Amino acid sequence: MNVDSIMWVFWVTVTLVLIKILNKFSNGRCYTDNVMIGKVVIVTGANSGIGYATALELAKRGAKVILGCRDDKKGIEAVESIIKQTKNKNVKYIYLDLSSLSSVRKFVEEFKKSEFKLDVLVNNAGASGMGRSMTEDGMVKDMQVNHFGPFLLTLLLVPILKRSAPSRVIVVSSMLHRLGTIEGVNEEGRYGYFQTYCNSKLCNVLFANELARRLKGTGVVVNSLHPGQVNTSLYKTTLFEKLRCLVLYTFFKSPEEGAQTSLYLAVADECDQISGKYFVDCKESGMSWKAEDRYLAGELWSMSEKLVKVRPEEWI
Ligand SMILES: NC(=O)c1ccc[n+]([C@@H]2O[C@H](COP(=O)([O-])OP(=O)(O)OC[C@H]3O[C@@H](n4cnc5c(N)ncnc54)[C@H](OP(=O)(O)O)[C@@H]3O)[C@@H](O)[C@H]2O)c1
Repeated sequence: MNVDSIMWVFWVTVTLVLIKILNKFSNGRCYTDNVMIGKVVIVTGANSGIGYATALELAKRGAKVILGCRDDKKGIEAVESIIKQTKNKNVKYIYLDLSSLSSVRKFVEEFKKSEFKLDVLVNNAGASGMGRSMTEDGMVKDMQVNHFGPFLLTLLLVPILKRSAPSRVIVVSSMLHRLGTIEGVNEEGRYGYFQTYCNSKLCNVLFANELARRLKGTGVVVNSLHPGQVNTSLYKTTLFEKLRCLVLYTFFKSPEEGAQTSLYLAVADECDQISGKYFVDCKESGMSWKAEDRYLAGELWSMSEKLVKVRPEEWI
């Protein structure tokens, strides 16, 4: 290696380290040290990434945390790991596959058998590129996992959230909601993986806004968020795996950093009073004009109610 090459490697390394340091200091953090003893929280998709980091921190703060995961082994391992690190034994796992409406209904039944209240629901689970086939419920799979499944889950939990008020619903969306549409979102083969993901994330914000309007005055607040670009398994691809590790570690947030906005919305006192807003880096932020469109939100609500077959007694 000649001197030029060594200098080149040196400056690239220095730049990457500086970017990482800059990221560390510019990330929004949840600074409140509120404890959560006596609170009951559900975190979906809590076996990895942002959901795991959220569940871990809420358990550290003393909450009873229920992890909704679609894999028994991963769910149980996550519970054991959280209990080991926090010494909080009130951490439980309940099977939840958001790509199945019957699984969502079973999860809620199971939850209600042991819990009488619910203070915070974190709709965190999300996926992309789950395959092109429709689910057995007749929905585009990524759409069902990211929006229709969480829609039904939340509706079924609304009575218990109302009973437990003040209570909170948190919907983990993405800045990619800006590229989404709701037109033909459940048409087989109409959109590729990336567009479907963006569509589902727009649905997350529209849903959160509409739910916030419908629950106004009940003491249940609903907000959505973008967690930042976070180094999680959401970005797993075999092709770019090695490059991914370096680039993501350097440029992206850690899952613990990515969990900060969810945590802020779950624990901060002031968030009891805020509803129908969108957050980035623990601060209220602007959402896309489509996400603010009440007409679209209403249209999505009706489509979702039909697709997940909400029963009249479950309407809100
Ligand atoms: N990472 C980012 O940069 C980023 C950016 C914007 C928004 N987000 C959002 O952040 C949320 C968390 O994602 P992440 O980045 O932490 O990714 P992740 O590590 O892949 O976590 C996603 C979680 O969702 C679960 N999940 C997937 N399909 C499911 C299903 N059918 N039923 C129940 N759970 C299911 C996964 O379970 P398995 O482990 O079994 O697959 C996993 O626990 C997602 O809503 C994502 O859209 C992430």
